[in-house]
Amino acid sequence: MDILRKVKQHREEQEQLKWVGTFEEYLELLKERPEIAQSAHSRVYNMIRDRGIEQHKDSDVKKYPFFSDHIYGLEESIERLVEEYFHSAARRLDVRKRILLLMGPVSGGKSTIVNLLKRGLEEYSLTDEGAVYAIKDCPMQEDPLHLIPYHLRDEFYEEYGIKVEGTLSPLNQMRLEEEYGGRVEDVLVERIFFSEDRRTGIGTFSPSDPKSQDIADLTGSIDFSTIAEYGSESDPRAYRFDGELNKANRGLMEFQEMLKCDEKFLWHLLSLTQEGNFKAGRFALISADEMIVAHTNESEYRSFINNKKNEALHSRIIVMNVPYNLKVTEEERIYEKMIEDSDMSHVHIAPHALRTAAIFTVLTRLKESHNQGIDLTKKLRLYDGEIVEGFKEQDVKDLKNEHQDEGMTGIDPRYVINRISSAIIRKDAYSINALDVLRSLKEGLDQHASISKEDRERYKDFISVARREYDEIAKKEVQKAFVYSYEESAKTLVNNYLDNVEAYCNNHKIHDPITGDELNADEKLMRSIEEQIGISENAKKAFREEILIRISAYARKGYKFDYNSHERLREAIQKKLFADLKDVVKITTSVKTPDENQLKKINEVIARLVDEHGYNTHSANELLKYVGSLLNR
Ligand SMILES: Nc1ncnc2c1ncn2[C@@H]1O[C@H](COP(=O)(O)OP(=O)(O)OP(=O)(O)O)[C@@H](O)[C@H]1O
Ligand SMILES: [Mg+2]
Repeated sequence: MDILRKVKQHREEQEQLKWVGTFEEYLELLKERPEIAQSAHSRVYNMIRDRGIEQHKDSDVKKYPFFSDHIYGLEESIERLVEEYFHSAARRLDVRKRILLLMGPVSGGKSTIVNLLKRGLEEYSLTDEGAVYAIKDCPMQEDPLHLIPYHLRDEFYEEYGIKVEGTLSPLNQMRLEEEYGGRVEDVLVERIFFSEDRRTGIGTFSPSDPKSQDIADLTGSIDFSTIAEYGSESDPRAYRFDGELNKANRGLMEFQEMLKCDEKFLWHLLSLTQEGNFKAGRFALISADEMIVAHTNESEYRSFINNKKNEALHSRIIVMNVPYNLKVTEEERIYEKMIEDSDMSHVHIAPHALRTAAIFTVLTRLKESHNQGIDLTKKLRLYDGEIVEGFKEQDVKDLKNEHQDEGMTGIDPRYVINRISSAIIRKDAYSINALDVLRSLKEGLDQHASISKEDRERYKDFISVARREYDEIAKKEVQKAFVYSYEESAKTLVNNYLDNVEAYCNNHKIHDPITGDELNADEKLMRSIEEQIGISENAKKAFREEILIRISAYARKGYKFDYNSHERLREAIQKKLFADLKDVVKITTSVKTPDENQLKKINEVIARLVDEHGYNTHSANELLKYVGSLLNR
């Protein structure tokens, strides 16, 4: 069987990566590749960097594929996180000693970020660049360089260019004496591989009931069954170094819901974050080299800093905001990903359903601008990278700087997914559309316990806004599908218009290729298009001339002018095409008993919606009916 062959192959590959040697041999290895002695923080940064750093030419925000392949729309926050924490910590700056605290609203991606780091480290430790070595059979996978005596560390630095930090742990101190007779060079070193499942280099601590939770979960405990054998509680061999802090050494420890934790647990972190060591049992301090990542929500964080008792710890925490995404297009991707990972992936979700939901969600997260000219829907467009007439890139930056806490409140993606799933269950169908989703989102608001009455009303208004946006999208979609080939028709119409405009401006006649007649410019045709965008009789000449100027400017630069080259002309053409169609669409979509011709047309349109626009027959029919009702209002 293929799968078993692959399992075997994987096992063999892992086998090949293994390495065991003496400390002496390890030092030889270090001479060739000093980078394998890097600190945990530096390894995390290099792991991110090795996956690439992208900088788009018209954006000053860097993108890190390590994150951006999975986390959407949070480029600014991720850049801050990588540069201000990971990068600085890798360069041994002081932030390395701080706990990284991700703060953000529920379902905003905090756990996803931590999981990416964990899974990333597991994989990275399998590569040459991310290789990690430790004293063999050490429960804390201690750094072999701790074997180098303090008084020789400066010399070591001179020779190897590597700074050694940390003290040999009590356990390995004892093993060095008992097993190796003090001969450091003989101590065995092995390559290790991070694994959360095997509790190597990756730990997770989550608070439980404070009464029953034991500090041993963090720092290990005495193994009473072995005290008799070793004779004393302070014999390190009678201690199990199996707390999360021990197990996460050299890698990363996740501290879930850190601020929910009992204070006594947090105090342990004080010395760890300052001196890089922690106290376990009756032993001298144990050096640890690990990144601690915690997460919490805003209200817990506020009450934490308001408590004076927490000052010392507070100053040892670096807080990074993880707000909600504020870009509609990215929000849509989040839903797509979540649905793909769920048990709903077989359900047909009609085009624009997720986008409509995303419009609603992002609206709930935005804050009103002080700028009178910008309402929330405009802001929504600008944030999503759309071009809005009269606004420049700088305006978008100013908008983003207006509210530092934008994105820290509003509707979370999990709520949306839950509502979609409940709509699917209720409809009991394998197809769901934007209206179903909006309805379900709205109904859910009443059951949502943590939304204030005021917000609920506001959110209901946003449902209506999203609905109106969808109406426009739906109308356009159907009208386009009614034209045999929208692009073709638009092109023909625009060429026809331009021929006439040229003749009009230059006082020419138009040559009719079929009859051979010389005709005057067709005023009626030109006006029927111009009127669509409100160009008056007085303004028509200027408009036509401006278009001709644009055409010749294009020609000079060697570009081809088409109907997409002129924003307003495109709008006029589209409206004209739709206006011509309106009656056909209206009648065809709303008749109760269509005649043969209408039926043929409907089937054609449905086929086009299915083939070209991603509908299935069910959702295409629903769309037609809905648009019919809209046009008849
Ligand atoms: N910006 C985003 N990009 C991609 N996925 C996201 C984003 N925000 C949220 N998600 C998705 O939403 C879901 C919830 O995210 P996650 O569990 O990471 O949130 P959290 O901040 O840890 O929430 P909680 O506070 O409830 O623990 C996940 O499936 C995650 O993939
Ligand atoms: Mg979480």
